[in-house]
Amino acid sequence: MTGLVRFGISTEKDLLAKFDRLMNDRGYTNRSKAFSDLVRQELVKREWTEGKEVAGAIIMIYDHHKRELVNKLMDIQHDFNKVIMSTQHIHLDHDNCLEIVAIKGTAVEVQKLADILKSVRGVKHTTLGMSSTGKHI
Ligand code: NI
Repeated sequence: MTGLVRFGISTEKDLLAKFDRLMNDRGYTNRSKAFSDLVRQELVKREWTEGKEVAGAIIMIYDHHKRELVNKLMDIQHDFNKVIMSTQHIHLDHDNCLEIVAIKGTAVEVQKLADILKSVRGVKHTTLGMSSTGKHI
């Protein structure tokens, strides 16, 4: 952050009312923070679409009982050790494991890892939390 500036925005009355409702629903108490976050969200999206260095997390739910699956997921993660910062494994219940894979690397590599993990048989659900290294937003 390099100092704050104030500026005016002209927009339709209806759109501003919708922005305020959205802002309130999401817990914002002032327009400046809500607006800044919207802009940053777009900048982060662009980091991903333009293949920049990104950070985030892959979250997976999978079947604990498939032993070959656990080994396969580990083999894949070893192949991507350059983009994986850490992996947290949580035994959700008797049958299910939750794994959080923290990542930092090029958007292409990270997306490739997420796609490979998602496609493994026995993986029930995967999400990719697309965030930023924070350097350029
Ligand atoms: Ni487990």
